[in-house]
Amino acid sequence: MASGLLKGAVLLLVSVLSWLCVYMKGRYTVDVRSLPQHPRSHQPPYPGGTADNLLWFLQVSDIHISRFYDPQRVTDFKQFCTENVEVFKPPMVLVTGDLTDAKTIDRGGSMQYEVEWRTYYGVLKETNVMERTLWMDIRGNHDAFDIPALHSNRNFFRQYSSMGQTGKISYHHAHKTPFGTYSFVALDACLNPGPRRPFNFFGYLNESSLASLQSLADETVHSNMTIWMGHHPTATILSPNPGIKHVIRNGIAYLCGHLHDLGGLFPVMYSMQDGGTLELELSDWMNNRRYRLLAADHDMLSFVDVKLGEWPVVLVTNPKHAMFATPSHEPLGRIRHSTHIRVLAFSPDPMEKVIVWLDGVRFCEGSHVEGPLYICPWNPADYGTGLHTIAVDVSDSKGRTRHQEHPFSVDGSRTNISFVQTVILQTDWLVLMKVVFLLVFTAGVLSLPVLRYSSPALPPGGSSLDSAGGAGCGAYPRQFVHKWLSRLSLLTKVDQLYYPLFCFGVYIPFGPWFYGELIQGHYGVLFMHGTYIAGGYVPGLWSHAYATLQVRNTMKGLFVNALFLSLLS
Ligand SMILES: *[C@@H]1O[C@H](CO)[C@@H](O)[C@H](O)[C@H]1NC(C)=O
Repeated sequence: MASGLLKGAVLLLVSVLSWLCVYMKGRYTVDVRSLPQHPRSHQPPYPGGTADNLLWFLQVSDIHISRFYDPQRVTDFKQFCTENVEVFKPPMVLVTGDLTDAKTIDRGGSMQYEVEWRTYYGVLKETNVMERTLWMDIRGNHDAFDIPALHSNRNFFRQYSSMGQTGKISYHHAHKTPFGTYSFVALDACLNPGPRRPFNFFGYLNESSLASLQSLADETVHSNMTIWMGHHPTATILSPNPGIKHVIRNGIAYLCGHLHDLGGLFPVMYSMQDGGTLELELSDWMNNRRYRLLAADHDMLSFVDVKLGEWPVVLVTNPKHAMFATPSHEPLGRIRHSTHIRVLAFSPDPMEKVIVWLDGVRFCEGSHVEGPLYICPWNPADYGTGLHTIAVDVSDSKGRTRHQEHPFSVDGSRTNISFVQTVILQTDWLVLMKVVFLLVFTAGVLSLPVLRYSSPALPPGGSSLDSAGGAGCGAYPRQFVHKWLSRLSLLTKVDQLYYPLFCFGVYIPFGPWFYGELIQGHYGVLFMHGTYIAGGYVPGLWSHAYATLQVRNTMKGLFVNALFLSLLS
């Protein structure tokens, strides 16, 4: 019978795992074809040989200007504001938070340093960048460390930033051109009041801030394209129903930062939300000097992530990258009607050559139209089905070269975005942490009274010989678990053990954890579910993970000791 049980358990495990795989696959892949198509998908204007219907802009994130570390960050940032902005001449630059580092010299604590803000704003003024482009900056969690309220004089964003002086933290900018209106919406999900580290990693939007973001979203309904930007990836923002992803679903993309490159593991992190909105995390300025060039060409979005100092910078805008095609948000049908391949090439020095390859065969040399735009006439029908590859080799007069390639399709064939990146960006980590806590709490704390007041009988004779008849390989583990449970049960019957452990376990989710100066000059009290401070409330975000660890650490002794006892006896 024991071996039957074991087989049953294995079968159950296998079916649960395969269900999980199927669920994960469904959960993390978007059925793009089932989404409604862009209304002008097969309507002109079609990408052709002239420099119209084209707009490009830049994003930079996580600058982390620090008074203690890496002054080169500032020097390089100055170079970006002068050279790169001069070469690209973007109408706007999106800066997605963590403008300053705000960490103490030992990196353990955090506070706002005015000198860091003066440095940031000083670069903007010194380089005149705010006059040459619209500098759209927003706050990141580091810019919100140790800030009791938005109107506090420690909220230096109000004083030392391009957009902060408007008094708004989230805002909408509609960029009007002769060929359409392009909406840029900045969302600030920083905690307010803003605790110090380590209680300020996740973002939070309450009902009213979500509602005001919804009204910003409503303003964009007539725009040709809406780009959302924010510091926190949506997976790290807690928001009430219907949730932040629902509010930004009208956007073709959500541009964010915050996770840097996850300690070097992921130089790029891209994903697609259920509704077809791209979520594109940009690696940092702080350590990697990354920035992003994006272009809307005939209302289709393309982008490339580059490193400071890398020239030339190349971006093929037609046909666009098949991995980032989002038919619900852009008129992809236009690729089939297009008459020209379109390539943007930027360099501080004149361009020498732009060579285009299709499926590994040299196709043409691009001819210059104006500005960064190079074109080649083509017949999309020749590439009418399935995936193909476009490659571009560019060289400038200084002999610098760049090779850029990507898959494309004319018929809507796609390549999938990396599964792992999608899992990172599209998992609701806050919910997951709560679920894990509940499981660990049930197993570690709620099980104690059950064990105490039930008495699992010791197996008769306590030996596996009894079941020798049908004993397969399953008999011993089963007996062992039984023995372990009975030892546990014995231990929980010791009052001196049971009461402190159980009471402390129950205290974790309900009682206050501590009372302290969580924000300079403001005392607050921290519970698992949230923190009350400076007249405000910040929901518990990391706290479920801490609570899980706490339960584990508290109960470990009991469970391990029972294990030893059952091994010894
Ligand atoms: C932008 O939208 C308008 C309609 O609202 C349309 O007429 C125009 O062609 C669009 N622009 C582009 C580049 O598709």
